[in-house]
Amino acid sequence: MSQMIRSLLRGAMASEIKKVPIPRKGVDYRGKVVLAPMVRSGELPSRLLALHYGADLVWGPETVDRSMIGTTRRYNEITKTIEWTRKPSQGSKSPPDDVKDSIIYRVHPDREAGKHIFQIGTSNPEKAVEAARLVAGDVTGIDVNAGCPKPFSTHDGMGAALLRTPDKLCAILEALVKNIVPEYEIGISVKIRILETPAETEALVRKLVATGITGLTVHCRTTPMRPRERAIRGQLRMIRDICHEAGVACVMNGDVESRDHAATLISEFGVDGAMIATCAEKNSSCFRAGSEGGTAPWEQVVEKYVEFAMDVHNKFGNTKYLLCQLVPGKSATYRLLQPCKSYAAVCEVLGHAHLLERAREVDQAIGIDPESKAQQAADKSAAKAGQKAARKKQEQQQKQNNASALAAGGNSARERANNKKPLSERGVTAQKQQQGQENQKSPSPIADAMLQPTHDATTAAAEASKVTLLEGIISS
Ligand SMILES: Cc1cc2nc3c(=O)[nH]c(=O)nc-3n(C[C@H](O)[C@H](O)[C@H](O)COP(=O)(O)O)c2cc1C
Repeated sequence: MSQMIRSLLRGAMASEIKKVPIPRKGVDYRGKVVLAPMVRSGELPSRLLALHYGADLVWGPETVDRSMIGTTRRYNEITKTIEWTRKPSQGSKSPPDDVKDSIIYRVHPDREAGKHIFQIGTSNPEKAVEAARLVAGDVTGIDVNAGCPKPFSTHDGMGAALLRTPDKLCAILEALVKNIVPEYEIGISVKIRILETPAETEALVRKLVATGITGLTVHCRTTPMRPRERAIRGQLRMIRDICHEAGVACVMNGDVESRDHAATLISEFGVDGAMIATCAEKNSSCFRAGSEGGTAPWEQVVEKYVEFAMDVHNKFGNTKYLLCQLVPGKSATYRLLQPCKSYAAVCEVLGHAHLLERAREVDQAIGIDPESKAQQAADKSAAKAGQKAARKKQEQQQKQNNASALAAGGNSARERANNKKPLSERGVTAQKQQQGQENQKSPSPIADAMLQPTHDATTAAAEASKVTLLEGIISS
């Protein structure tokens, strides 16, 4: 068959594909390579970074309906951003007036124009609509999270729990379609995971595409699967077919590594777009096509990120967290970053002398004074909180290991230790015992974890305690 006939046939088939209408201010997910929603890693400067390197659309981090409800929208003249703020409740229903407002969500109306999708965490149609109304005039689409497996989401019936209550999920999507689409003229979409069997997934997807949504993203892992497990793509073509029958755009997610990789996968599986999370978190230049330079060295990406973070006065804790994702754990810079408490210190460590003056201004604007006693005390307590959290995480990990060992018919760590034969009975020589004791003198588990490479940590436990330590630093 000649090239011309083939392309005519392709054209004819393409024109037959049904497409639901895209609302006037909304966006068609077809042909897009997009940044995934990521709590903490998908804050404003990360989204600007992804856009800078060519992401077609960017999802914001999941924001729970009840944390949005009650916020006040305001325009920040300095950073040129729109912010939704509220007083932190601090455990009481009426917090004191002098408590500083917390920023719950932010968008950059110019730099994210037409490209920003707000993701909502919800398990209630009325609350979903109430929260969505607050942002709908400033974003390009509203996406419902039906894939988060974390207990903070599922315990309330949100995230992946919605996959088991499809009628509730459909009611949420229908309520958003009915109340948000006509008034704000943007589209509604959903992000799901695959279910255990193709039949279960098929039944779910058939219901979802009939709700009036314009897009469906499928994370090709089941709810219990860990992020390290390879994505399963066996159900993808079936999901795509159901989406296409209904005219809904189908976006694939899971182990997509770059724009070029996305293009290959889109053509292999016939889906409409691809979403990238982890690889973008490590190096957002993955959105740049190979023909345009491809993935950039981390030093360049980090410099851009620091600039964007300073542009929007990003909370320093979040900036530092992201830097720890972007800077390879093996590099000396990674270790030097750990004690940094200000943008100025970060710029010094990174050797960005040209950004130093601006960094000092930003530090001052956001109230960071690295020399102040209060700052030093805060840092000290942050470090303590981090260590405590890391210890707790290790204990939890130990409990989990025990549970899985017991479930698999083995023993708990304590029993294993009690049942251990003396070293001499296990043929360990005195010299080896000595060596073992020497090895135990190496740094603490926390220090070990901190020194592990970020991107190729040797054990999950070390990675977990590093993350927890960082979480402690950030949350404080
Ligand atoms: C740090 C982090 C935060 C995430 N937060 C969210 C979220 O807020 N909403 C959501 O739907 N998925 C969230 N996810 C899941 C990702 O969007 C994505 O589905 C998953 O990581 C698989 O994509 P990947 O294989 O490219 O990493 C998060 C993932 C990571 C790594």
